[in-house]
Amino acid sequence: MQSDFLQRPVVPDDLEALLRIERRSHPAAWTRNQLYWFLHRPRVTFHALTERRYPKTPIGFFVVADAPDKLYLANLAVTPAWRRRGVATFALRELEDIARMRGRPAIVLDVQESNLSAQLLYRKAGYLAVQVLRGHYGEEDGYRMRKELAPVPASSPR
Ligand SMILES: CC(C)(COP(=O)(O)OP(=O)(O)OC[C@H]1O[C@@H](n2cnc3c(N)ncnc32)[C@H](O)[C@@H]1OP(=O)(O)O)[C@@H](O)C(=O)NCCC(=O)NCCS
Repeated sequence: MQSDFLQRPVVPDDLEALLRIERRSHPAAWTRNQLYWFLHRPRVTFHALTERRYPKTPIGFFVVADAPDKLYLANLAVTPAWRRRGVATFALRELEDIARMRGRPAIVLDVQESNLSAQLLYRKAGYLAVQVLRGHYGEEDGYRMRKELAPVPASSPR
């Protein structure tokens, strides 16, 4: 079934919306300068999440850093009014497609110990906690989570 959402590369017109979403999503949100810095990193891609009907208006975004053996999910945020409607789940499915297209067999990410909603999201999507990150978020610990992607059978259409 076709999803109600789309993901596409971020364009310069999206940046103000991304900043607003970021500020509403993280206690230590990226500043405008940090966002620009990340946008220009090599091997880092920014993806806007939109409703299918309104592909110009971001309701969330995710950021992917590429490594030879994995993709690293560097950020994922959904604007508060759109939460609990499957946008992040859609983003994680798209991320898996990106990983497969690039031939990356695993996805990793870091999540704050207190961020239970994100941990539940990732666990539901098949991620496992593989490492405790002591003091990774100032005073707070975090968890590294990882998902191994099953290889696509040769006869599969994608
Ligand atoms: C975490 C976040 C990305 C989830 O986005 P979302 O679009 O609301 O997630 P989904 O609707 O796809 O939720 C999928 C599942 O995750 C879990 N989940 C998500 N948010 C939850 C919450 N607030 N409480 C409990 N479970 C939650 C549930 O199992 C949910 O399934 P359900 O709605 O059928 O119960 C969003 O809350 C957000 O942007 N938070 C702030 C930024 C952030 O923490 N990013 C992650 C950094 S690691």
